[in-house]
Amino acid sequence: MIEIEPSLKIRKNIILIGFMGSGKTSVGGKLARARHYHFLDTDQILEEEFGCSIREYFEQKGEEEFRRQETNLMRRLSLSLRGCVLSTGGGLPLREENRSLLRETGVVIYLRASEETTMERLMGDTTRPLLAGEDLSEKVHRLLGERRPIYEKAAHYTLDTDKKSFYEIIKEIQTVVMF
Ligand code: S3P
Repeated sequence: MIEIEPSLKIRKNIILIGFMGSGKTSVGGKLARARHYHFLDTDQILEEEFGCSIREYFEQKGEEEFRRQETNLMRRLSLSLRGCVLSTGGGLPLREENRSLLRETGVVIYLRASEETTMERLMGDTTRPLLAGEDLSEKVHRLLGERRPIYEKAAHYTLDTDKKSFYEIIKEIQTVVMF
């Protein structure tokens, strides 16, 4: 008899994880429209709850408090989410508790992009506190190196997005999500 690991008794949500600039929000919105699902984005929900931008929140309260708020949000979402595409902040899967919550809440898809593509997309960005200041390429290189294995561990499925159109990415997601 096949033993089904608890995390495979999945709720019908699709969750997108990945590094900053991997296209989670853009893909998520389009995917939700294609499936007639609701679309939610953890960063957008938190900004509404904070009443300020994530960059301002980092400045005022610091990263550790932001991470606490992300976990608090994931706990709430894990109880209530149904029929949603959820796009997540790039650092959310770093906490082990969050990874468990993600996998309990839906099919977790890692949108993987190469370092070159990531750099191109993030060049000139001023909204992301972790990339502020000098030497963007050093930061992206280091953070990507640290996080890639974590994203891979958190995900049910890893999807390479380089040189793929939104249409191709969404089609691939539709083929791996069996509901
Ligand atoms: C972060 C990613 C951001 C946002 C915050 C921290 C990270 O979200 O949550 O700036 O640690 O990677 P995006 O991945 O949507 O840019």
